[in-house]
Amino acid sequence: MKNKIIAILTSGGDAPGMNACIRAITKTALKNSTQVLGIRRGFNGLIEKDFFQITFKNVSDIIHRGGTILCTARSEEFKSANGVKKAVSFCKEQNITGVIAIGGDGTFKGAKKLCEASIPCVCIPGTIDNDIGCSEYTIGFDTATNTAVDMIDKLQDTAQSHERCSLVEVMGRHCGRIALCTGIAVGATAIVIPEIPYNFEKDILSPIKFRMNCGKHHFIIVISEGVGDTLKISKKIKNEAKIETRITVLGHVQRGGSPTSRDRIVATKMGYKAADLLINGVYNRIIAVKNGKITDLDIKSALNIKKEIGKSILKIF
Ligand code: F6P
Repeated sequence: MKNKIIAILTSGGDAPGMNACIRAITKTALKNSTQVLGIRRGFNGLIEKDFFQITFKNVSDIIHRGGTILCTARSEEFKSANGVKKAVSFCKEQNITGVIAIGGDGTFKGAKKLCEASIPCVCIPGTIDNDIGCSEYTIGFDTATNTAVDMIDKLQDTAQSHERCSLVEVMGRHCGRIALCTGIAVGATAIVIPEIPYNFEKDILSPIKFRMNCGKHHFIIVISEGVGDTLKISKKIKNEAKIETRITVLGHVQRGGSPTSRDRIVATKMGYKAADLLINGVYNRIIAVKNGKITDLDIKSALNIKKEIGKSILKIF
């Protein structure tokens, strides 16, 4: 029987836990006499033939490290038909049995193009945003949220000491899940996300004033970067609530750092599942968490599944 070869790539924004996933795929493949190729910088690596053979040694000592040993990118060239053609011919040249693509929505759309060109693929959701419709969870979300919570816990001390309102902008261009979960975990006075339009008086000013009347003098407002109004909201709070404000943009610090145990475990389970599918000739699937269990879905139909932010969750904080 011909030796199997799995190629792994990470694409889009990196997410803590990607390395744990690469490790799990590699270990599963190598134990099953399957070779592993690491493709550098996402789909660019397929186009530019930038790859290396992954061994046990390469994946030792990486489970606890953030980022991705394969590097990542959002490939412009892969958006063109010519880019896809180059990637496909590389996969054929190397006799690749299947590609495992770890990333978010853009990565999955890229992988779908490879599937359509008869290159077998399996996708793994790895993005701090947790915005993949077909999966309850994406690798990196827990670490990013915990990082944001840690940072805001520190901000609470100085906000309390100076009796200020601290506005914290967290990541999420299109998706407010990091803001929502972080806001709940830190006991924020208000949470503002792109999915739900806000009314300044009702959703921000009134909760601040209510707490002021209860004797509170410092406040945390968590805002998703996708809202785009942080400075405007800060000025309005200063003028209308008569309190000093400060803005902190947490930025890319949320994408780095050692993955939490949750991210390491989910990444390991997803990596194992993806490699196991390809080794057994099952492909064009997306690995997902459904009802708390790791499962796999057809790539085409899974890409059409939308995930809504439940408005009811905003009532609980
Ligand atoms: O990976 C998702 C994400 O971190 C979003 O939350 C954020 O809006 C975006 O990526 C930032 O991307 P970049 O690294 O290109 O600034």
